[in-house]
Amino acid sequence: MAFSKNFLWGGAIAAHQAEGAHLEDGKGLCTCDVMHGGKGRFAEIQKPDVMRKNIAAQDGYFPEHIAIDFYHHYKEDIALFAEMGFKTFRTSISWARIFPNGDDAQPNEQGLAFYDSLFDELLKYGIEPLITLSHWEMPINLTKKYNGWVSRQLIPLFERYVKTVFARYKGKVKYWLTFNEINVTLHVPFLGSGVLIDDPADKDTMAYTACHNQLVASALAVKACHEMLPDAKIGSMVAAITSYPYTSHPDDNWGKMKLERKNYFLTDVQARGKYPEWTKQYFASQNINIGMTAEDEKILRENTVDFVSFSYYASSATCTYHDPAAKVETIAGNLIGGVKNPYLKSSEWGWQIDPMGLRIVLNFLYDRYEKPLFIVENGLGAKDVVTANGEINDDYRINYLRAHIKSMKAAVEDDGVELLGYTPWGCIDIISASTGEMSKRYGFIYVDRDDEGNGTLKRSRKKSFFWYKGVIASNGENLN
Ligand code: BG6
Repeated sequence: MAFSKNFLWGGAIAAHQAEGAHLEDGKGLCTCDVMHGGKGRFAEIQKPDVMRKNIAAQDGYFPEHIAIDFYHHYKEDIALFAEMGFKTFRTSISWARIFPNGDDAQPNEQGLAFYDSLFDELLKYGIEPLITLSHWEMPINLTKKYNGWVSRQLIPLFERYVKTVFARYKGKVKYWLTFNEINVTLHVPFLGSGVLIDDPADKDTMAYTACHNQLVASALAVKACHEMLPDAKIGSMVAAITSYPYTSHPDDNWGKMKLERKNYFLTDVQARGKYPEWTKQYFASQNINIGMTAEDEKILRENTVDFVSFSYYASSATCTYHDPAAKVETIAGNLIGGVKNPYLKSSEWGWQIDPMGLRIVLNFLYDRYEKPLFIVENGLGAKDVVTANGEINDDYRINYLRAHIKSMKAAVEDDGVELLGYTPWGCIDIISASTGEMSKRYGFIYVDRDDEGNGTLKRSRKKSFFWYKGVIASNGENLN
């Protein structure tokens, strides 16, 4: 048998993409509450003037305000996760539910009580909560006052939030993640850090500074976890990107290496306790001052993560560095796209499907960090059709997941990778992060809601629901 009997099979969501109830029970407005839906979402959030308007008044449709109303449906949803046999369930705590403005004197008791009952409900079924401390739910007041994570003032505010939830959920939560996809800020700064950039010339300095402040906050969360919750484990989280040199030209391979270094250097800091040497040269050459102090260096060095978690959806080829003028077809991907790989097929959203890429990334990360890994996101965003008799026959999703689980199995069984668990993304349909669409569905459970916010919110089991139940019951042996 490839997987140990303690292998954590489950599913994952994030608070803002599921909960809704965006101003209920004292919650404050957060980063994702001020993003419109639609394919232009990421373009919109890079425009500071538009975002300032959205922050001041939310005109129009904002998908996360209601999302799938998990806030009121969680008992029903958790019963369905239990029916599938989940051993773990990943979600996040919305920072703005606990400290509505981020800098309030006292935490919001109603917010704390909500997560108490959510965790109790999971534990009732023996489902281990896996909790992300920050998944793009920063209180928007912190953008208004400090321009988000570009300010060091967020470090103590985050630390206070983290210590509040550690003290409250001690004994209930044993697996924690600090920042979701820590590398996102380098690509979409407002999403990852609540930072608005007025002058594009400042982008690099501001994004790297925001990342540095998050790294320090992440290390302080690790420190607090180890001190306050000795039985718990805390990990990092990165958007993993498998990339291939477009040709065998050495310059293309060098381009791939540079891309990977940039993608993983934040995880390097979280797992190894220091910035890689090349970043020092890079920051100096680009005139980037991230504001590192001697105290920061000590905090980073002394507080490395217990495990490394990641999302993996797709891969891409890197650019033709040896010939910048070459005509190549580009494709989308999670956060960053790349060059189309002629050997791979793409999803309806243009993300290239590559199960072998998962085996490659598992080996790459295990070789690099020698720490246990956790796949906390993987899946296929696709449009589902409900048949006249109410069935959802999502064989395409089953095929995607089967192929990826086979790769994961090979990495564990044949390559010796230590893997803690697997939580496919959007185990129940939720709002898409990149587009705000509901029609980009990942779930085993269908939710009746459309891209304009219409629908009954009724939950139904898809064909993949029964398939995944069989996978878990057989501990990954039965993939048919
Ligand atoms: C990851 C995020 O980037 O990918 C999730 O951590 C997100 O929040 C997921 O939902 C899938 O992306 P999308 O854009 O299809 O929702």
